[in-house]
Amino acid sequence: MPRLVTTVAAWRQLRAGHRSAGRSVGFVPTLGAVHPGHASLFGAARRENDVVLASIFVNPTQFDDKEDFRLYPRTPERDGELMDRAGVDFLFLPDVDEMYPNGTAYTVSEDKFSRELCGARRPGHFTGVLTVVMKLLHIADADRAYFGEKDYQQLQLVRGMCEAFFIPTRIVGCPTVREPDGLALSSRNARLSPEERALAPGFHRALSTAPTADAARAAMESEGFGVDYVEDRGDRRLGAVRLGKTRLIDNVAR
Ligand code: PAJ
Repeated sequence: MPRLVTTVAAWRQLRAGHRSAGRSVGFVPTLGAVHPGHASLFGAARRENDVVLASIFVNPTQFDDKEDFRLYPRTPERDGELMDRAGVDFLFLPDVDEMYPNGTAYTVSEDKFSRELCGARRPGHFTGVLTVVMKLLHIADADRAYFGEKDYQQLQLVRGMCEAFFIPTRIVGCPTVREPDGLALSSRNARLSPEERALAPGFHRALSTAPTADAARAAMESEGFGVDYVEDRGDRRLGAVRLGKTRLIDNVAR
């Protein structure tokens, strides 16, 4: 197991020791339910820093759906083992009171891009994400923090927030890890029925091979996906679909 840290004060003390010893710190925030997508972030942090800190915090304020929050897998023991194997030194595992000592009245929000794409369907989601990421980045006080391109809009918003608020931690984006059939790894994939799991790769296939966003949408709809959006933005094509009760997101370079 990585060394467990549950309070801000305890990590501050450890961080001060690393600083005076001249050791760099890499930080990987997660919601837990660790899979190889997360492990690729731990690996990048391991290669580029002297000390690796990961966090698991199922952040209530970013779940616009109460049921999704309730159902979110919580497997800290197993996660700790996987982190250990990936070379994580410290695991920050705070409770809600530690992260929100004065409640949820203070928030960090972005009022343009956060309302588009996933933000248009998940009101408040990115305010919850940015608020907790701001807290975690201040707590971790890391040299570098690692985020997956799988959550492309989240990565862009975190980068923008750090620029806007002069947060000195360098934000490192890491490529999406996929199943051999193309499906992007996500802890929500476990909720797919065998039939849904068999259909799921069609999402990435249509996203990456259709000539236009509209054609990708049509292909997905004909394969049985409920399409939230497919949009071309700059050099990426981004999409979100529903398969039964499960929502999947993905994006590809175009
Ligand atoms: P979570 O969904 O646990 O993801 C943690 C990090 O792993 C994110 O940066 C995410 O983009 C990355 N990740 C997830 N699946 C990936 C995959 N298949 N390939 C590469 N990277 C992947 O994203 C969150 O948690 C939360 O919003 C958080 C940033 C922790 C704030 O609460």
